[in-house]
Amino acid sequence: MKYNFDEVVNRRGMNAVKWEQNGYLAGMGMTKEIDDETISLYIADMDLKSPQPIVDAMHRVADYHMYGYSMPFDDYYEAVKGWFKRRHDWEFDTEDIVPSPGTVNALDYAIKEFTKKGDRVIIQRPVYPPFTRVIEVRDRVVANNKMIKTEEGYEIDFDDFETLAADSHTKLFFLCNPQNPTGKIFTVEELNKLGEICAKHDVIMIADEIHGDLIRKDAKFIPMAKVAPKDLKLMTCTAINKTFNCAGLHSTNVIITNPELRERFAKTMFNYMPSPFTIEAVIAGYNEGEEWLDQVKEYIDGNMAYIHNFLKERMPKVKMTVPEGTYVAWMDFSGYGISGQEVHERIYNNANVIMESGWLFGEEHEHYQRMVTVSSRKIIEKALERIEKAFEDLN
Ligand SMILES: Cc1ncc(COP(=O)(O)O)c(C=O)c1O
Repeated sequence: MKYNFDEVVNRRGMNAVKWEQNGYLAGMGMTKEIDDETISLYIADMDLKSPQPIVDAMHRVADYHMYGYSMPFDDYYEAVKGWFKRRHDWEFDTEDIVPSPGTVNALDYAIKEFTKKGDRVIIQRPVYPPFTRVIEVRDRVVANNKMIKTEEGYEIDFDDFETLAADSHTKLFFLCNPQNPTGKIFTVEELNKLGEICAKHDVIMIADEIHGDLIRKDAKFIPMAKVAPKDLKLMTCTAINKTFNCAGLHSTNVIITNPELRERFAKTMFNYMPSPFTIEAVIAGYNEGEEWLDQVKEYIDGNMAYIHNFLKERMPKVKMTVPEGTYVAWMDFSGYGISGQEVHERIYNNANVIMESGWLFGEEHEHYQRMVTVSSRKIIEKALERIEKAFEDLN
């Protein structure tokens, strides 16, 4: 089936955080309410319709007229395993799969189970802001192994990483691969080194790989579990949330082969039963969603190329490289020589476009803006034209 991703879908009136949530955006510096002309490209979900097999599965569940307690059975686990074997050549057992109500919740449960107040958790900023939030709301401490920006992209400061890992209060490391917002895919060498350091200092690694299905055509993504040293305590978060635009179903599967680690984590999930919608979406997506995913990836590649060319030709002071993975574009506006706050205001209030301000990813990134690029091309074009106009006096 051929999908038409150019269709513009109106998401207002369906409780979409991205298109209707004024309060949160005010917290991000928006000084006016969302209106009918606002273009929202910030929260990481797609403005494209999910695969038809998932839509059909949702109808089957809805039409059953009963929405009682549900649990995953064999067909669910086989669908998950089949997907990772086919798409990533990664095999694991049914017993290794622990379903969780979302990815950030999995991190939260892990923090509560594997650390105590005051313990340290390594993250690598710039990184998805809830990594910071989930550590701090539980009164744990962020140990920031800052990514180093080079001409080629972002690199890891391994000496700093090892110093942080060696601290006796450091218990966890959240790896974000592919990394949101930089789009970096970590190389096998980098993964090996991170794994060895964590194993050496008995730091548990949680690999958040939920963007792993959404990589550029020529990019290669290797799941951490395929290259991890044997003695590494590793948990990998996988999800249909990003892959098939199902974030509202809060469906994550955490893969843990280490029995002791798995038993402890699974115990924290004792009360979680995925909804009947979630279970059927996982089965349908993983068994029948490949055709859609291949098409959506091509569409994202096209959007990325469009955005990259637009900036190069019409706003050359804005620097952006096409990311290897994820569907977010990380744009550097420092070339304008104005404050991050002004960049933000021009985009939010003058262009009436909502992106995510770099300061959410760490203060030193205040001149960056992150754009979620999975909307109809027409929306992206309109947003970029408005942004261009909002900076025309500085071009
Ligand atoms: C790296 C990363 N992890 C987790 C999430 C959120 O996942 P979930 O909705 O499953 O909690 C996002 C969403 O943008 C993300 O980019």
